[in-house]
Amino acid sequence: MCGIFGCVLNDGSPAAPLIHSSLKKLEYRGYDSVGIATLSDGKIFIKKDQGKIDEVDKILNLDDMPGSIGIGHTRWATHGAPLKVNSHPHTDCTGEIVVVHNGIIENFLELKSELQNLGHEFVSKTDTEVMPHLIEENMKRNPQLSLEQAVLESLKRVEGSYAFAIISTREPDKIICARNESPLVLGVNHKGVFCASDIPAFLDVTNKAVMINNGELVILDASGYRIKKISDGTAVTREPITVEWTAEMAVKQGYPHFMIKEIHEQPEVLRNTLRIQDHYLDLLSTFLDRANEVFFVACGTSYHACLAASYMFSKLSFLPTFPVYGSEFVEQCGKSVSIDTTMLAVSQSGETADTIAAVTCAQQRAATVLSLTNVIGSTMTRISRVYIGTQAGPEIGVAATKTFTSQLSVLAQLALKLSKKRGKISQDEIDCLEESLQKLPDKVETIVKTQEEKVKQIAKKYANAKVFFFLGRGISTATAYEARLKLMEIAYIPSIAFPAGESKHGPISLIENGFPVVFICPRDETHKTIIGNIMEMKARGAHIIAVVEEGDVDIKSLADDYIEVPKGIPSILSPIAYIVPLQLLAYFVALERSLNPDMPRNLAKSVTVK
Ligand code: M6R
Repeated sequence: MCGIFGCVLNDGSPAAPLIHSSLKKLEYRGYDSVGIATLSDGKIFIKKDQGKIDEVDKILNLDDMPGSIGIGHTRWATHGAPLKVNSHPHTDCTGEIVVVHNGIIENFLELKSELQNLGHEFVSKTDTEVMPHLIEENMKRNPQLSLEQAVLESLKRVEGSYAFAIISTREPDKIICARNESPLVLGVNHKGVFCASDIPAFLDVTNKAVMINNGELVILDASGYRIKKISDGTAVTREPITVEWTAEMAVKQGYPHFMIKEIHEQPEVLRNTLRIQDHYLDLLSTFLDRANEVFFVACGTSYHACLAASYMFSKLSFLPTFPVYGSEFVEQCGKSVSIDTTMLAVSQSGETADTIAAVTCAQQRAATVLSLTNVIGSTMTRISRVYIGTQAGPEIGVAATKTFTSQLSVLAQLALKLSKKRGKISQDEIDCLEESLQKLPDKVETIVKTQEEKVKQIAKKYANAKVFFFLGRGISTATAYEARLKLMEIAYIPSIAFPAGESKHGPISLIENGFPVVFICPRDETHKTIIGNIMEMKARGAHIIAVVEEGDVDIKSLADDYIEVPKGIPSILSPIAYIVPLQLLAYFVALERSLNPDMPRNLAKSVTVK
């Protein structure tokens, strides 16, 4: 997730100060590097560097650039570390074609090598850089092509998600934009036209917006905007709408809180996790394959992802792994770490002090440290041997939601990769799991669309409960732990989570009439046994809230309340779907209790002290 902005100003005023201030409003989409390109007197001017916008501005004075046309970018690294060289804008070999991009070009490696063979020189590690070179190549091959035609030709080769804004000295009066799956919106007023990843970028300047759809190309110039279909170039007529949002509402895209916005972003984020380059998965799984013992180390929600992953790796690749809390690692395992140890550290922020301390301990004892994080450029990426990004984009709500499901998706892909290497499960099973992974984003979308109202009602009913139980078996134990953490941290209801089988060994003594017990019940090998556990709880007066597979009449008939998840999700992937209604439950219970879910008391997004 990055932010792009561009403007064509028709009153001769400089574009750079507006691009700068608009990028600041998009900083919530990414903030590890920034860059601006403007056009003046047929020349391109570029300023860019790694760092937050204010830091870069202090050194480069971003406002001081000539020209009334320009584009800008605030970055959240996915391909290539947050370094100046990887910051946008990116150019072709001649420096005449300049591109900013939000999204992921899936086939960039193939395009890059093809272009390199044709003599194009690349300077960055980004996927984006292929685009200016593709346009350059198309214009070289056919000098009659306009910039617009060359962009259209180039888009035919690009697979993946994108919102592009492109300028060129060859046609210095315009910006060309294109969209597929990454957001793009136009703003218009009497002073000019603007393109951006999101409305807040221009809301100070205008509240007249034009939404751009997937598969559309836009030409912005002093006369306004023209929209065309990428597929066949047909013109599209679309009038601006008036946006009634305040600036604060606009950043949250109309949602009342970041947490609910981020819950709703999960289908898109999961789609992005499926675009991770295969060679990263291959490299990490090769390290795991060689390992004698593997520790999964993390805190909080990331620890729950590790717990779920330990089931995935055992079942799919027959690799025993040990999930350990970052804060306990040194005491619990420190002395047993050696050159033969492999650690996979998982952290949204990549800065959690306890996880970093565990990594440092492992490094000092010559272990191999791999990591999975959402923040490329974080401490974790700098100190681990190999890392992989979770592609979730910045998460602002303190409660982790989309980063949890993105971690799970990447971990599942890694386990599958290793499984293939080791040949431990049949090809049919692998194919089936891969197909299910591809379908998961849509299934999560269905859950959010169809269950939200129901979850709201359940939240109303139980909002005053004094305590909650969350129970699951097998991999659903991890879902239970995570659901409990969500409810506790934002709704302040003391909650208990256990593997359902363990509840008989003590916790069941707490149960009395009306005690809410949430059961996570995918239709997997634990289904029969969990019915027994539900009966035990019911017999003692518990109120059962079950998260079940659609059409699971057995459990629905036992539950006081139930939430349904679409059919056909394999057990190993179930936490990715089954956690979603429980994130919603925590959110709505917090609202019922008049709490702000984005800012729970005593907590910080990133815990950088031990
Ligand atoms: O950035 P990390 O993933 O390392 O953070 C770990 C925990 O601090 C984090 O998951 C925390 O528990 C969240 N508040 C959970 O919602």
